[in-house]
Amino acid sequence: MADLSVTVDGLEMPNPFVIGSGPPGTNANVINKAFDEGWGGVIAKTVSLDSSKVTNVAPRYARMRAAKTREVIGWQNIELISDRPFEVWEDEFKKIKDKGHDGVLIASIMEEYTKDAWVELVERCQACGVDGFELNFSCPHGLPERRMGAAMGQDPEILEEVCGWVNAAATIPVWAKMTPNITHIEEPARAALRAGCEGIAAINTILSVMSVDLKTLRPEPTVEGYSVPGGYSCKAVRPIALRMVMELGTMMYGGGSGKPIPEGDELPIKGEFPDRSLSAIGGVETGEHAAQFILMGASTVQVCTGVMIHGYKLASTMCEQLSAFMDSHEFATIEDFRGKSLRYFTTHADLVRRQAEHKAAERAAKVGMVTKDAAWEGDSFVEQSDKLVSNKDD
Ligand SMILES: Cc1cc2nc3c(=O)[nH]c(=O)nc-3n(C[C@H](O)[C@H](O)[C@H](O)COP(=O)(O)O)c2cc1C
Repeated sequence: MADLSVTVDGLEMPNPFVIGSGPPGTNANVINKAFDEGWGGVIAKTVSLDSSKVTNVAPRYARMRAAKTREVIGWQNIELISDRPFEVWEDEFKKIKDKGHDGVLIASIMEEYTKDAWVELVERCQACGVDGFELNFSCPHGLPERRMGAAMGQDPEILEEVCGWVNAAATIPVWAKMTPNITHIEEPARAALRAGCEGIAAINTILSVMSVDLKTLRPEPTVEGYSVPGGYSCKAVRPIALRMVMELGTMMYGGGSGKPIPEGDELPIKGEFPDRSLSAIGGVETGEHAAQFILMGASTVQVCTGVMIHGYKLASTMCEQLSAFMDSHEFATIEDFRGKSLRYFTTHADLVRRQAEHKAAERAAKVGMVTKDAAWEGDSFVEQSDKLVSNKDD
């Protein structure tokens, strides 16, 4: 059986599956459950110093289902970060770590644009023994009104400064979580990596309006008759997440952009940050989905909405599926195939050139034209020569 263990930024994990920040990591009770079910890591629900500023509403989710199967394919939320006091989280972080789980515990943190607040948050979480940080620069709703979350993640200059504060105070690995609600996701990612972050996580939810009730004419989810755009997740966002992780993988590790990595070359090649890590998120529900993100360069794969639909046992199913995929290709470790598909991205002009070359070779083969020296044969040498002549009527 394939070896699913990964070591990312020095963090050892039994498998690459990590609970993405959100309801499945919202208190010690559910985090312990996740570790007991074999998850490689848990990113806790995002915390800030003052939870009294966080007030959630209900309902705060809306789902999209497939017409025939009724399967949930899209999920919108207008949920904020954790509304639980930071002191409670400190106590729970310590207690979770005391249990000595196999997986890693990562604190997701978010603050206003104030150096002291970020430094205090880092130092207090670190004192609880958490293994790493994920900086939430990506929550799309509510917090941008306080210039937090996505509002910071959309401004590479501010993001770089905040990452600098965090990295100066942090003694454990730091990942910066990117918002997809931006034209070029590589720009804030570059800023975070320049400021010393060990890794990038992507994507958070995509800004969306789920639907409008045609009886009441009110947008959904409806709270007292009104709504706000929310964050879209689940299966439906996976192709967009794959594209964005591909863009990040290409920027960090190489490939794409008209410069395909030659067959046989292994990562890291020509990327700007070959030794930093990438944690992929967005619509993952199976080991095969995870394999696709690893092929784009991710070392770990996060799942949030999938756990809300299928429960914590998803980890063991995904491990089996990923292991079967690896066995079918004889990949012994995750590193054996990480980033392997990045080499197959190129420019459209290059696709056109490749297709023209292929068609020309096919035409030549059809009429038996020799196109390579190795194809010449002694018995049909004269015939082969004749087929290469253009002015046969001379
Ligand atoms: C209900 C809900 C709450 C979320 N809360 C957070 C959060 O507090 N912090 C954060 O960084 N991401 C949060 N997310 C985003 C997820 O971590 C993840 O980036 C996104 O949902 C895409 O992955 P998925 O399709 O596996 O859910 C939340 C997502 C959902 C659905």
